[in-house]
Amino acid sequence: MFALAPQASATKDELLEGLVEQARALLAGERDATANTANLASLIFHTLPDLNWAGFYWMKGGELVLGPFQGKPACVRIAPGRGVCGTAARERRTIVVPDVDKFPGHIACDSASRSELVVPVEKDGAVLGVLDLDSPSLARFDAADARAIERVVAELLRATDLGS
Ligand code: SME
Repeated sequence: MFALAPQASATKDELLEGLVEQARALLAGERDATANTANLASLIFHTLPDLNWAGFYWMKGGELVLGPFQGKPACVRIAPGRGVCGTAARERRTIVVPDVDKFPGHIACDSASRSELVVPVEKDGAVLGVLDLDSPSLARFDAADARAIERVVAELLRATDLGS
């Protein structure tokens, strides 16, 4: 059984480094997309403090469709370019939103969400989907969080059969 490493005394850098290492270990030896993305959503949600949602949306038929996640039930479909997720997918870039109320078009799936981090999942130049993290605290995410989640996505792409 996979055990989450104790994080109580870790610095933020140690916590993020540990998250990437745990992601690598969790993905090792398994290439199934559903299994790996479900486990990654759980790992992130239970490892990083102060989150109320963590999960995936997948590009299907030109829109983003809800995938494996942890947190409250969420919006199922997001139109291209809509919200933080749709914007990150369209612009193919990581987006950190310190205050969701100040992001035009933010989609409030959970009214508790105050800040958000969205990282696109890209393979061979195509956006397959996004990994979305929400927090009930303002300005919860910084560049270090963004880089760490990008590394987790890179581990996912390396270890998993996605979009084929
Ligand atoms: N807030 C997101 C929608 C997804 S939920 O937060 C889970 C957005 O604006 O794209």
